[in-house]
Amino acid sequence: MGDAVSERLERLNSMLKRRGIILPAFEIHGGAAGLYDFGPLGGRLRNRVQQIWLDHWLSQGDITELSCPTITPYSVLEASGHVGEFSDFMTACDACEEAFRADTLLEEYHSTPDSLSKDELAQELATHSPPCPNCNERKWGEVSAQNLMFNTRIGSGKSGRDGFIRPETAQGMFTNFQSLYRHFRQRLPFGAVQVGKGYRNEISPRQGMIRLRELNMAELEYFIDPEVEIKHDFTAWNDKEMRLVPDDGLEVSMSIPAALESGIIRHGTVAWYMARTADLLEKLGIDLTQLRFRQHEGGEMAHYASDCWDAEIHASYGWVECVGIAHRGCYDLSAHEQYTGQRLKAWRAWDIPKEIDVEITTINAAMAGPAFRAQAGAVKQALEALNTTPSEFPFTLQLEDGSEVEIEEQHVKIERRCETINGEWFTPHVVEPAFGIDRIIWHILDHAWTETEKNGEPYSLLKLSPDIAPLDVAVMPLFEKDGMEIIAGELHSSLCGTSGILSSYDASGSIGRRYARADEVGIPWAVTIDHQSLEDKTATVRNRDSQQQIRVKIEAIPNLIHSSSMIDLF
Ligand code: GLY
Repeated sequence: MGDAVSERLERLNSMLKRRGIILPAFEIHGGAAGLYDFGPLGGRLRNRVQQIWLDHWLSQGDITELSCPTITPYSVLEASGHVGEFSDFMTACDACEEAFRADTLLEEYHSTPDSLSKDELAQELATHSPPCPNCNERKWGEVSAQNLMFNTRIGSGKSGRDGFIRPETAQGMFTNFQSLYRHFRQRLPFGAVQVGKGYRNEISPRQGMIRLRELNMAELEYFIDPEVEIKHDFTAWNDKEMRLVPDDGLEVSMSIPAALESGIIRHGTVAWYMARTADLLEKLGIDLTQLRFRQHEGGEMAHYASDCWDAEIHASYGWVECVGIAHRGCYDLSAHEQYTGQRLKAWRAWDIPKEIDVEITTINAAMAGPAFRAQAGAVKQALEALNTTPSEFPFTLQLEDGSEVEIEEQHVKIERRCETINGEWFTPHVVEPAFGIDRIIWHILDHAWTETEKNGEPYSLLKLSPDIAPLDVAVMPLFEKDGMEIIAGELHSSLCGTSGILSSYDASGSIGRRYARADEVGIPWAVTIDHQSLEDKTATVRNRDSQQQIRVKIEAIPNLIHSSSMIDLF
């Protein structure tokens, strides 16, 4: 990072902290790396971004919202593969004993160090001996895998069990598959979204909001039948060129449907979510010339993914992954089904039923009748419901009423029957767009922050979309006297009482300083009540970005802001 970029970054961070947008958490206790607060202005900004995210996906019509616990039993994350696989490679400095991610130490020496294996990382560290970011020494210990999940204990004493705080919201959506399947009347495709916290015990968090230990995540799991090609309508994206970096690393500029057609993007639903992700990011204020989609190389992919495109945004920290759009295949549902024995499948009905010969295990009536008497019918039903032909005798068979009987070889016989089969059970595949909300907010702020000059002094504006600005309007009496403060107070109350609007009342300092304060945190509109307001009930309305001012009837202001039509008057 050049000096000019790092100095700008320092000024931006200082403004975000001073104005209460984003600030290091628990600072009065010395702070804690990787944890940030959204402050008095940041809280609403984050909520608005999350609400736009939710509305964007729910409007698709086949998606519902879930909310699952962040505390997760060990077995769930063991089944999902996170216990075994969710790790980064670390190494510690021999001199100061500080631990670092091995790949980040090698960023200057390798283009994709996060795709290297443990042995390759050790080899590269030995070859380059990078300096320790903490003490500058160049001797490194062994490379080892460190699991990134936070352990916890659910309950205590004998009934306590091990657990984790979730590393992703996705698992709750997989474990809810049966409920989702019922909700959507057993019809694919459908999706579930979840917005909430995820936790990762990062080895050496750095770069401010980019690598956090507690993240605001927003994930969508879209369940599809792998044998049915969904006809996504790409018309709106036919002429939109995007920057795409396929896994050969060579960037191309083409539309998403063209990339799908030519096989660069391998799956229609992955392409669909790439296109809709670009739309959403643009809606949130990301400059699309600073967005690219990059396909993961094989070694870079998460343990559950068979293909993945990251949406990367460019700003002060270079290109940063902000969204991952992964094809998770049937990995998760199969893993939970295998672990729990619960069926996590969907039914695929065939257009033409098939007649097939099947082998059925049923009762040998001559022997089973006398043995089971009144239960013989229930034993027959339970035997025929078995999916497998028993290979060992005797075995215990559970009947529908919960009772159990001992089955001997003489009680059963194998019958061949011709049956009409109308369809089959299969494991749905999943396409997952997963968003890091904190990183997206960081990039929105970085793109929106504009430094200029006014009267020879530095002047900064935060050009946020009015849809996500932390405050919608600042109301300012020119002076707190002659009744101007009363009219301003009434307008402020009326604005705050209008659904979806948050106003700030600011009467301190010169009017110029108040405008500057409003511009600095991105308030789109400033309304000044002055002497003329006392006479004709109009106020000055000032637009943040053009700084143009017009006079507007005070009583019309709440509705003009609420309906987003104030801009039409300028
Ligand atoms: N669910 C995607 C992720 O954990 O990054």
